[in-house]
Amino acid sequence: MPFQQHTIYFFVVIVTSVLVSVFWINLLSEFKMDFISFGITNTSKQKFLIVPKKEVVISKENLTFDILIYNGPYLKPYVEPFRKKKCPSVTNCIVTDNVKDINNSHAVIFTHTSLPGKPPYKASNQFWIFHSLETVHYTHKPPKHWDDKFDYTMSFRRHSEVLRSYGKIVRREKELKRNYSEVYRKKKFGAVWMSGHCPVPSKRKALAQELGKYMHVDLFGSCGTRPCGIRTPSLSDCLKNVSRDYKFYFSFENTICPDYTTEKLFNLFLYDLEIVPVVNGPANAAEYIPNGTFINYQDFPSAAELAKKLLEIGSNEENYTKYLKEKDKYHDIGNGGVFDLAMCQLCNKLATNPTKNSLNYWTSLMKNKC
Ligand SMILES: *[C@@H]1O[C@H](CO)[C@@H](O)[C@H](O)[C@H]1NC(C)=O
Ligand SMILES: *[C@@H]1O[C@H](CO)[C@@H](O)[C@H](O)[C@H]1NC(C)=O
Ligand SMILES: *[C@@H]1O[C@H](CO)[C@@H](O)[C@H](O)[C@H]1NC(C)=O
Ligand SMILES: *[C@@H]1O[C@H](CO)[C@@H](O)[C@H](O)[C@H]1NC(C)=O
Ligand SMILES: *[C@@H]1O[C@H](CO)[C@@H](O)[C@H](O)[C@H]1NC(C)=O
Ligand SMILES: *[C@@H]1O[C@H](CO)[C@@H](O)[C@H](O)[C@H]1NC(C)=O
Ligand SMILES: *[C@@H]1O[C@H](CO)[C@@H](O)[C@H](O)[C@H]1NC(C)=O
Repeated sequence: MPFQQHTIYFFVVIVTSVLVSVFWINLLSEFKMDFISFGITNTSKQKFLIVPKKEVVISKENLTFDILIYNGPYLKPYVEPFRKKKCPSVTNCIVTDNVKDINNSHAVIFTHTSLPGKPPYKASNQFWIFHSLETVHYTHKPPKHWDDKFDYTMSFRRHSEVLRSYGKIVRREKELKRNYSEVYRKKKFGAVWMSGHCPVPSKRKALAQELGKYMHVDLFGSCGTRPCGIRTPSLSDCLKNVSRDYKFYFSFENTICPDYTTEKLFNLFLYDLEIVPVVNGPANAAEYIPNGTFINYQDFPSAAELAKKLLEIGSNEENYTKYLKEKDKYHDIGNGGVFDLAMCQLCNKLATNPTKNSLNYWTSLMKNKC
């Protein structure tokens, strides 16, 4: 039956070509979507132009994202080391601090303390990020003409598009070995507080003094009564010594604000110090500091109750070293590690969900008046 054979043959050819063209239309519209959502500009060195090659899976891993640290001396030391690192989900995440690269950058980070007098030229598809590590009390609010410039925030607030905290505590791979009995036996005193800044919103000195009515508390630093070389980026002798001699370290922040915890706490994890941290807040600290490794004033009705608890824990080797043992299961990844995570988070956001925040950056950053 030649007629029927021809019909079937014809039919197969039609169906096959329809399927093939649907496949290509889909494929092309996918590229187009990428093209649009990534905001191709002629200034982007055409890096975003994807040339489909046969049998090559086009993935976002192949794209390059350029981040410019416009200013901010605190970030600059981490730019160079970042070049040798690789982000887990975005292969080409490039960070520079050369402002000449601004027109070739997909994201530009501005630090609150050193904004230029007037905003430079902003390409329409760029993402600008407002960066501050301070709470509302110490963040410099940019003048009005910056209002519509920022798309994202980078801060310690965990709802920021780019999280840059003062530290990040992770479980350690290799166990830390100590003779905890010996550590405990060396401890001669109750608690220590060190600070160089006295009048602060959280009134931490008053709290330290109040606690001092019920237990042994020594105040170090220019705000206390004894000098102590604490203002060094590396581990000071003084901090090492107090960690050996005291049971509790008051990691008191200048402001109580959700997510706000500084190196006063993270350093104890970074340097594996054998002392138990006591924080004055925030109430949500346990969301990012492991339970059982620290004590939070916010969990107690009064300073007297907190002191009572510290005395109880501190007077018994087993109860006290339980905290130290738990703390020693973790360590802090340090400022460099936090910077790497922040840059990778930003690149990943540009790669997967490059939408601008509809909320004004300042309103977003200062959520809960912090
Ligand atoms: C990009 O440049 C090409 C020629 O170099 C030009 O034809 C095109 O209009 C430009 N596209 C945009 C979005 O400026
Ligand atoms: C793009 O990424 C895929 C998957 O990671 C890889 O197999 C491919 O070789 C890459 N293509 C280019 C041109 O780099
Ligand atoms: C960036 O582009 C703008 C607009 O074309 C231009 O005025 C500015 O000088 C350029 N900046 C740099 C650093 O090249
Ligand atoms: C730990 O130190 C104590 C006191 O110095 C000592 O008696 C004990 O043998 C040490 N334990 C180990 C496992 O080294
Ligand atoms: C730390 O302790 C050691 C040993 O007891 C001592 O020699 C040194 O002077 C102390 N350093 C400080 C800054 O207190
Ligand atoms: C935290 O640890 C304490 C004991 O150290 C325990 O009683 C409490 O249930 C723990 N809380 C959470 C949220 O795991
Ligand atoms: C150790 O802690 C437990 C629970 O907090 C408490 O009941 C006990 O009295 C403490 N032991 C000593 C000797 O203080």
